[in-house]
Amino acid sequence: RAMLGRHGPLAGARVVVTAGPTREPIDPIRFISNHSSGRMGYALAEAARDAGAQVTLITGPTERQLPFEVEVVHVQTAAEMAEAVQAAVETADALIMCAAVADYRPSRVAPEKIKKTEEQLSLPLERTIDILASVQRPGLVKVGFAAETERLLEHGRAKLEAKRLDLLVANDARETMGREESQAYLLTAEREPEALPRLPKTVLAEIIVDRVARLVRARRA
Ligand code: CTP
Ligand code: CA
Repeated sequence: RAMLGRHGPLAGARVVVTAGPTREPIDPIRFISNHSSGRMGYALAEAARDAGAQVTLITGPTERQLPFEVEVVHVQTAAEMAEAVQAAVETADALIMCAAVADYRPSRVAPEKIKKTEEQLSLPLERTIDILASVQRPGLVKVGFAAETERLLEHGRAKLEAKRLDLLVANDARETMGREESQAYLLTAEREPEALPRLPKTVLAEIIVDRVARLVRARRA
């Protein structure tokens, strides 16, 4: 693998990949999270490594086995992930933001376990930082993911533009989260959306990494 990597399409490049869900604490024993398994992000980290890149994988809590020869940074919350990403992209050529970052977190974390004294309970939530939108290093290749349940291409296009991405991978949230396969669309600013067939995430990861390699090369030339 190392032999291949040295001559791979991402040889000499540094790639940051985020994966998995984030967890936003409610009290010392509870949190808000989502169904992300980390499968796609871990596959991307491995594919980028196999393409010769030096990879930093920033991961929320998952059950997955950690990849070899990849620097792994463990985080829990969106705020922790934001901090880790900001630090890692300083020297990176590409950021692949595959993590399912919580959009909201409890406005205040209860210092003690919340007791079931009330018949109904509402938790005030506040927005988390949009990590991908906030990273603005010139020259960095930015790749985003969009899992939608409706109007996939329309929402995907809007995210591509709003977050100033080089590539956006869009798929149906219900069809991809926790699954081994995914049917994705690749969106770029210049071209029409490209529909890929239903593929194992390991294969999809190789296709995405190949695109990233081309974007990194184009930026360097
Ligand atoms: N993302 C991020 N920080 C957040 C939320 C999302 O960096 N706080 C990234 C995701 O990792 C993904 C992209 O932004 O690469 C799109 O995420 P998605 O949840 O589809 O879009 P949002 O902008 O959060 O909009 P919404 O959930 O309302 O569709
Ligand atoms: Ca979101």
